[in-house]
Amino acid sequence: MKIFKTKVELKSYLNSQDEGRVISFIPTMGALHNGHLSLISQAKQNSDLVVCSIFVNPTQFNNSEDLEKYPRTLDEDLRALRYIKCDVVYLPAISDLYNENEQVKQFQYNGLDEFMEGKGRRGHFDGVATVVEKLFRIINPNIAYFGQKDIQQLQIIKHITKQLNLDIEIIGVPTIREESGLAMSSRNKRLSESDLEKATLIYKTLVFIKENKYKYSVEKLKDFCVEKFERHADLDLEYLEIVSLKNLQPIKKYNEKGDNVACIAATINSVRLIDNIIF
Ligand code: PAJ
Repeated sequence: MKIFKTKVELKSYLNSQDEGRVISFIPTMGALHNGHLSLISQAKQNSDLVVCSIFVNPTQFNNSEDLEKYPRTLDEDLRALRYIKCDVVYLPAISDLYNENEQVKQFQYNGLDEFMEGKGRRGHFDGVATVVEKLFRIINPNIAYFGQKDIQQLQIIKHITKQLNLDIEIIGVPTIREESGLAMSSRNKRLSESDLEKATLIYKTLVFIKENKYKYSVEKLKDFCVEKFERHADLDLEYLEIVSLKNLQPIKKYNEKGDNVACIAATINSVRLIDNIIF
């Protein structure tokens, strides 16, 4: 496994590859778990060279405590990447990607950022899109893999890739979960056993929505689920939205199968978790 710390070395290595080799790219912020590794395994099946980046991108955090406490487990990450035979890892320092005092770029998202993460975390997606564009331009992959776990991020990346006219196929990969149903997340590392148990309400609620869509209207189902959270004081519900997968706008009536997404963000002991279900 090749490890590069600078874009100059990484680009020179990638430029030396034979033309026609399919390059896949998986951007991450590290603290890797089986969710991340499933993106890499899928990439390995469909390409000749798999590049993974680990970079905790400061511009996408709007809470300095969250950035500071973001888990960093580089040695374990590299072990896992070696084990699954990732070909190339890029570990840039902040200065390799950003100039001093550089501002994030402002993107147009066609309304995709209006609700959920875009509403609650102002500037978050400009930070994500800024770093992903930089990484795409350095690596110039044929395919890039993103998790459905961050569904709004996935839809936004698809949108800006088209907008920037980049010839990169964006593939979304289903969410990998713990046995309890809790979506795997680097932030789970900050939760106690009892918090992990309480956090299972998030996925249980999403499944409930999926299973009860024919019984209740969107509004009733939403109200009912919000009430469920109110009965669990430790879990602070930030939003519960039922939106169209295509435009991420809240729906009043269900769309056809596969075009509805229920999305939840909730905080437990200052750890913010998000999850969603497509139905
Ligand atoms: P990070 O949270 O490290 O996630 C990296 C990728 O792994 C994302 O595409 C995310 O959706 C995917 N992922 C996370 N948990 C998953 C799970 N349980 N199942 C399947 N996929 C999962 O997302 C980011 O980093 C950053 O915003 C980034 C795109 C790297 C830009 O900085």
